[in-house]
Amino acid sequence: MRSGDAETIDRLVAAAKEMREKAYAPYSRFNVGAALLAGGKIYRGANIENASYPLSVCAERNAVAAAVLDGQRTIDTVAVVADEDRPTPPCGGCRQVLWEFGRSALVIAETPGGTRAMWALEDLLPDAFGPEDLLS
Ligand code: THU
Repeated sequence: MRSGDAETIDRLVAAAKEMREKAYAPYSRFNVGAALLAGGKIYRGANIENASYPLSVCAERNAVAAAVLDGQRTIDTVAVVADEDRPTPPCGGCRQVLWEFGRSALVIAETPGGTRAMWALEDLLPDAFGPEDLLS
């Protein structure tokens, strides 16, 4: 699979839609699914909330964890699906976590009805803080 081509994007969005069904979000009732492409493979995540609310983890960050634990270090494309009329972009914290591994990533958000938005991650997180700020 090539990052950014139409078939890859469609497959990622379909995987994110499936993952939304697996979300555990009894407190917010805001189910989110994410799927990302790294090393030619698809990695999946959904949001998992906790009774101690701040311990909840977003869909995107769970997908990043799956990819990194499988040895990936470069994220090419990310798809996010939530149940809203407007495509749901990644939250600020997830943008930062995606930046660590995906500074060239394409981000796609789609509604269940098929309304799609796309951004370059660098446009969602301008002047980002990253590894080079610590390691130089
Ligand atoms: N959420 C995500 O999973 N990803 C985002 O980018 C936005 C927010 C989750 C966190 C929480 O479980 C619920 O959506 C409501 O904020």
